[in-house]
Amino acid sequence: MAVQISPSILSADFARLADEAAAVPNADWLHVDVMDYHFVPNLTLGLPVVEALRKATSLPLDCHLMIDDPDRWAPSYAEAGAGSVTIHAEASSAPVRTLREIRSQGARAGLALNPATAVEPYEDLIGELDMLLLMTVEPGFGGQPFLDVVLPKIRRARALIERHGGQVWLQVDGGVSADTIERCAQAGADVFVAGSAVYGADDRVAAVDSLRALAEG
Ligand code: DX5
Ligand code: ZN
Repeated sequence: MAVQISPSILSADFARLADEAAAVPNADWLHVDVMDYHFVPNLTLGLPVVEALRKATSLPLDCHLMIDDPDRWAPSYAEAGAGSVTIHAEASSAPVRTLREIRSQGARAGLALNPATAVEPYEDLIGELDMLLLMTVEPGFGGQPFLDVVLPKIRRARALIERHGGQVWLQVDGGVSADTIERCAQAGADVFVAGSAVYGADDRVAAVDSLRALAEG
């Protein structure tokens, strides 16, 4: 279970995205939060920016779609060159079809669950997934406090993944920082999104390194 760090550009300077991507060369992924004012009460960026970022960085893009009707849009993000595309279970009406379309475009397929969405109903979809994302804040904004209430679900998700061969990555997103990352790792997460904890730091490279070291224990 190798630890991976995915800094979220939601907390970066949107006027300097290429420079901000270049500021975390020691990261494994660049986390790109797509929001549409409907699924969440915030608006960020869409396909044209993902296409531009794809050309501006060698880091693989970890696209987290917080949008209504991801079944319609997710395959285009894979086609645009995202390395991973994650859709929300709460927003998808045909998750199996969409996850398969993401994979058929050559990207890793992810399913995200909000804090109050149980993981057990999705057990049968494990074979369709490359990554399960458990939100540790209500989605929509960076800089919110970590929700400890999600920790038991992280443990249950880890157990469920292990029962199914252990191949699926378990990502946590929201409030992940030097204060909370060890709890997430101990509960079984292995991919860590961090927005404000990386882009709010003066030294982003050091922030990524220290989060990784804490998660590796
Ligand atoms: C929130 C986004 C997160 C956000 C995390 O809805 O999905 O990726 O950038 O930001 P922090 O790490 O500051 O909580
Ligand atoms: Zn995110």
